[in-house]
Amino acid sequence: AIDINKLRGETGAITIDPGYKNSGSCTSNITFLDGEQGILRYRGYSIEDLAEKSNFLEVAYLLIFGELPTAAQIEKFEKDIRKYTLVNEEMKNIIDGFPRTAHPMGVLASLTSALTAFNPKSVNVDNEKEMYEAVCKTMAKFLVIATWTYRKNMGYPLNYYDNTKGYVENFMRLMFELPTGPYKMNPVVVNALDKLFILHADHEQNCSTSTVRMVGSSHAGLFASISSGVSALWGPLHGGANQAVLEMLEAIQKDGGDVEKFLAKAKDKNDPFRLMGFGHRVYKNFDPRARIIKKAADEVLADLGVDDPVLDIAKKLEKAALEDEYFKSRNLYPNVDFYSGIIYRAMGIPTEMFTVLFAIGRLPGWIAQWKEMRVNKEPIGRPRQVYTGSPLRDFTDINNR
Ligand code: ACO
Repeated sequence: AIDINKLRGETGAITIDPGYKNSGSCTSNITFLDGEQGILRYRGYSIEDLAEKSNFLEVAYLLIFGELPTAAQIEKFEKDIRKYTLVNEEMKNIIDGFPRTAHPMGVLASLTSALTAFNPKSVNVDNEKEMYEAVCKTMAKFLVIATWTYRKNMGYPLNYYDNTKGYVENFMRLMFELPTGPYKMNPVVVNALDKLFILHADHEQNCSTSTVRMVGSSHAGLFASISSGVSALWGPLHGGANQAVLEMLEAIQKDGGDVEKFLAKAKDKNDPFRLMGFGHRVYKNFDPRARIIKKAADEVLADLGVDDPVLDIAKKLEKAALEDEYFKSRNLYPNVDFYSGIIYRAMGIPTEMFTVLFAIGRLPGWIAQWKEMRVNKEPIGRPRQVYTGSPLRDFTDINNR
C-alpha cells in the first residue's frame, strides 16, 4: 500500500498535467476502474453484480461505510434517512426567490449550499455516530430538494416524503404526484431508475468528485462540498452530457433526421460540435455502465411502448457512429449518458432534470469520497503551476497608458 504521508511535501520539480490525465490525487479504497478493460467495481464488487442483485440504498451504504449492509443495518439506514426528510420550511422562501426559468442544477447547488444555514455544525468525521447522522441527513434532504427544483419550475406545490414508500419510489412521487390524486407507480420504471442510480453512484476521481474532495480538503463542511460537486457536474462535458445528448438528438430530428450530416460535423476539426454521449476520459474500449443501461433502456422502452422519433434517431446515430472509422479508431463508444438520457425521456423526466438525476445517483459517491479524504487526513488540495506571464514590469501611471 502507498503511504500517503510519504507522498507529501515539496519535491522541487513541478509536473504539468493539464486535465490531470496522468496524475493521481489520492489513494482510495472505494472504486476500482480499469478503463482499458472496461471494469468498474465498488468496494470490490462488480458493477454488473451490484446492478443486478443489489439496490441503490444498499450500494450507497456499501460505498460510504465500506461493506454491504446486513438486513438489520439496511432497515435501520432506511429508517434513519426517513427521520431527516423534512426540510426546513425557510428553505421554501429561498426557492421562491428563484425565477421559474432557473436551471434546476443551479437551484440545486444553491439549495444544497443553503442547507449549511440550517446545519451549521461541521461533522466530526472521527465520531462514527455523528458521521452516520450526517450521511442520513444528506441522503434525505438532497433527494427532497432535488425534486423541489422541478416542482418550482412547473409551479407545482412542493411535495413531502412518504415514509411508507422506498427511496427511489419517493423520488417519482416527490416529482410527479399532484394534489389531484396519488401517483401511479410503474415498477419497471422504478427498477430502471434504481439501476441508473447504482450505475452513477461513484466513478473514482471524476471532475465533480475531485471537486468535492478538493473543497472538503480545506475542511469546508459536507453540504458546502457537495454543493460544489453539483456545480462541477452541471457542465456538458461531465454530468450535463445527458441533457446535451437529448438536445442534440432533438436538433438532429428538427433538422430532418440526417445522422450522417451530424456525424460529419463531429469529425470536422474546424467545427466545435462533438457527438454528445460518445467518448470517455478513462474508458477507451467500452463503458461497462453503458452495456448494462442499454439493456435497461430496451426493457423500459418495450414496457412503456414508447414510440418516439427522437429515440429512433438515437438508435440510428448509435449504429452509424459504431460503424464509423473516425469513432472506431479513437475508441469513441456511447457512454452511460447516451442511454440514461434516452431512458429518462421515455420515463417522462424533463430534459432539464436529467443532470439532477445524475446528481442524486452520484451523491453516495461524493459522501464516501469526502469521508475517506477527511478520515485519511489528506492535506489541503493546492496544485502548483508554471508561470508563463510577463517578467517584472515598471508600473505605468494611468495618464501614460
Ligand atoms: N465527438 C467527436 N470527436 C470526439 C468526441 C466526440 N464526442 N470525443 C472525443 N473526440 C475526439 C477528439 O476530437 C480527439 O480527436 P483527435 O485525436 O483527432 O484530436 C480524440 O477523440 C480524443 O478526445 P479527447 O478530447 O482528447 O478526449 P478526452 O479524454 O479529453 O475527453 C470527453 C473525453 C470529454 C468525454 C470527450 O470524449 C467528449 O467531449 N465527449 C462528449 C461529451 C460527453 O459525452 N461527456 C460525458 C462523459 S461521461 C460522464 O461524465 C459520466
